[in-house]
Amino acid sequence: MHPTQSPPRDQPGPGNRDTADLRISVRLVDGSSHEREAISGLHLVELMRAHTLPVKAECGGAGVCATCHVRIAPRWQGRLNPPDDDELAKLDEIPGADEFSRLACQIVMTEALDGLEIELQHDSQLPPPPAEAA
Ligand code: FES
Repeated sequence: MHPTQSPPRDQPGPGNRDTADLRISVRLVDGSSHEREAISGLHLVELMRAHTLPVKAECGGAGVCATCHVRIAPRWQGRLNPPDDDELAKLDEIPGADEFSRLACQIVMTEALDGLEIELQHDSQLPPPPAEAA
């Protein structure tokens, strides 16, 4: 490839940002932080499941179970679309939900959210699998 040519769209390179270069950072209940690739257009809950992060998401992203409860770091609040009435109604059902609470299935990843920090909440985190017998 000539040095003045741009790399093909499917190859990472300066000035040719691929949406797969986006990142999210997910903090689990134990305090561990997991930075993962993200793709524009996917819902946060889809991204967490694709990366085998332990989100319950019992309704599969339909917005009816409220088991994808996350908190969004305050500095990201202004970049998200506000929750609609249905999401607010579900959040009202979660004890302890506050103004930073959201349903991960209602947030679509965009380039503006690159680096987004979220905390998966206790009520929505799957328990660890049982230890295997020795
Ligand atoms: S996955 Fe059920 S409300 Fe989000």
